[in-house]
Amino acid sequence: MQPFAAGAEAPEPITPAPPLALRTSGLTRRFGDQVAVDAVDLIVPRGAIYGFLGPNGSGKTTTIRVLLGLISADAGEVEMLGHPMPRASTRVLPRVGALIEGPAFHPYITGAQNLRRLDVSDATANPATSAERITTALARVGLTAAAGKKYRNYSLGMKQRLGLAAALLQPRDLLILDEPTNGLDPQGTREVRKLIRDLASDGTTVLVSSHLLSEIEQVATHVGMMAGGKLVRQGTLQDVLADGAPTIRVDTPDLETAIAVMQQMGLEAAALGPDGPVTARLGSMAVEDVANALVHADVRLHSLNVDRPDLEELFVSITGEGFDVLR
Ligand SMILES: Nc1ncnc2c1ncn2[C@@H]1O[C@H](COP(=O)(O)OP(=O)(O)OP(=O)(O)O)[C@@H](O)[C@H]1O
Ligand SMILES: [Mg+2]
Repeated sequence: MQPFAAGAEAPEPITPAPPLALRTSGLTRRFGDQVAVDAVDLIVPRGAIYGFLGPNGSGKTTTIRVLLGLISADAGEVEMLGHPMPRASTRVLPRVGALIEGPAFHPYITGAQNLRRLDVSDATANPATSAERITTALARVGLTAAAGKKYRNYSLGMKQRLGLAAALLQPRDLLILDEPTNGLDPQGTREVRKLIRDLASDGTTVLVSSHLLSEIEQVATHVGMMAGGKLVRQGTLQDVLADGAPTIRVDTPDLETAIAVMQQMGLEAAALGPDGPVTARLGSMAVEDVANALVHADVRLHSLNVDRPDLEELFVSITGEGFDVLR
């Protein structure tokens, strides 16, 4: 039997819009005459690790403070886990863990005691399992050994880890982490990246802000780039990286032949120095075709690479700015 009657068209496949963990539209927040967050439309699919990127002062923390209801928006809408905010705050926020600048910990008690205070003040937490939750959260952030040290004696990295532990006391559907690797050493940074991956593989959506693009490039599935309060680019990491034009780089002693062959193919090839390498923007040309042509012309290849710009280079090309503080 034919699946469809002759002449009938196959039905359009119905692809439902992916459920979103977070969506904002036109989100705006001013401080005096400065627009710190300027009509931002965030789209964060469920299950994503969303890298919220931008240089210092670009509006990341302000956006996050609005999302968490710590400050109000001047305009725009927020939908979190499918609910309008801040209207549904009491229902939604218990499912959202957050780490933001300067979490309020008590300086004269230990890290573990600080978590205990937070846990008992959480009406949704079962007091019988409090100790277990605290031990697990401390272990997850690598703070077990320093659990008994007073908070005021914590290093910056330890404070940051305790903030993360606080966000992890309860299982969450959405985690919002503002610069979680601030103050962490390279090992701590790697651990936080692994923690983020682990949380995401358990089904938690993670929005993580950073001014260190290379750090996020290693973990994010999606990115949003802020510059001067505006969201200048957003999408899957793959799509955003694909914005960058690939460049071919050929190391060869036969510079002139290589340049001639590549120019014949329509590439604007040039040698970077007297000994090469020869580079050209590839555009849509397949690298295999270039390699084949070079080999056929007896160009000796020491190496042949394709470079794609990284997130930071893309940011610079999108905004025309260096990755500097704008204001
Ligand atoms: N409470 C405030 N009063 C006045 N201006 C503020 C306030 N909070 C933030 N701003 C300004 O808003 C802009 C955005 O700041 P925000 O803290 O959101 O940036 P950020 O992207 O988080 O930067 P960083 O990477 O340094 O953390 C900055 O110009 C900042 O000076
Ligand atoms: Mg910030």
